[in-house]
Amino acid sequence: MDNILVIGSSGQIGSELVMALRKIYGNDHVFATDIKQPTPEVQETGPFQILDVLDFKNLLHFIVRYKITQVYNLAAVLSGNAEKIPLQAWDINMKALMNTLEAARQSDAKKLFWPSSIAVFGPTTPRHNTPQLTVMEPNTVYGISKLAGERWGEYYHNRYGVDFRSVRYPGLISYKTEPGGGTTDYAVEIFFEAIEKAKYQCFLKEDTALPMMFMDDAIANTIRLMQADPKKLTHRSAYNMAGISFDPKGISEAIRKHIPEFEISYKPDFRQAIADSWPASIDDSVAQKDWGLTNTYDLEKMTKLMLEKIKEMKG
Ligand code: SER
Repeated sequence: MDNILVIGSSGQIGSELVMALRKIYGNDHVFATDIKQPTPEVQETGPFQILDVLDFKNLLHFIVRYKITQVYNLAAVLSGNAEKIPLQAWDINMKALMNTLEAARQSDAKKLFWPSSIAVFGPTTPRHNTPQLTVMEPNTVYGISKLAGERWGEYYHNRYGVDFRSVRYPGLISYKTEPGGGTTDYAVEIFFEAIEKAKYQCFLKEDTALPMMFMDDAIANTIRLMQADPKKLTHRSAYNMAGISFDPKGISEAIRKHIPEFEISYKPDFRQAIADSWPASIDDSVAQKDWGLTNTYDLEKMTKLMLEKIKEMKG
């Protein structure tokens, strides 16, 4: 029987991942932890504890005490916020990963998921249809920490047998918990402001295309990778994950089909330079072949659902 620890369970990915894992593995077998309070849903359906992943002793103690066999470590400072506090962000992002890798090495929690990102790529990477193996010269603190993290994950797999698995998430779009401090966050904010104000001022230029994915697809694919036969995994760094590519103009047009009066304006800030260094589209054929990565939401389907759900929530 698997016991699963989710670190960062109050965040954008964690709050939805916990619920999906509880459906599969049973409420009592999925332990949610964070340094922030959980969503009511996570709180009410199973165990939650405040746990700081930077505290190695407590982390290891938790893993041993609850007989944890799998860890999902989602704790991180995102790209935009990391540029404001470079050294702190490096320390937090790397220490959070190294603590879970070490805990995996020293315990029975050998299976570890840790998210990488499209931020591992940089301005010298081919921008369109970016391949799995390519030039990687990230120029953001977040990207440097994600690339270093991929290397460490593979190292712990090769050297110590840690069952490290990872994907390079594109921007993730969801309505339940908002993201914080990322460069792709505009594609979430825009839906909330479309419903609330019928207008949005975007911090990226109109033609800045980036890869994105609807959260349901991201969660399903994450669990799919964790359940995949280890023999089929030809990459132990992180797999490309493409999702759908669009720019702010494209998403605003999709919204306008439902809210004709919606208006978008553009005021690029420091995050424009971050977005300019990332790919516009990604090739994820290796992940499709190795473990069956699939994407089921296109821009139209996602836009319709996002607007419906946010409207429902705002009553
Ligand atoms: N969505 C993240 C960010 O913008 C990228 O991984 O920081």
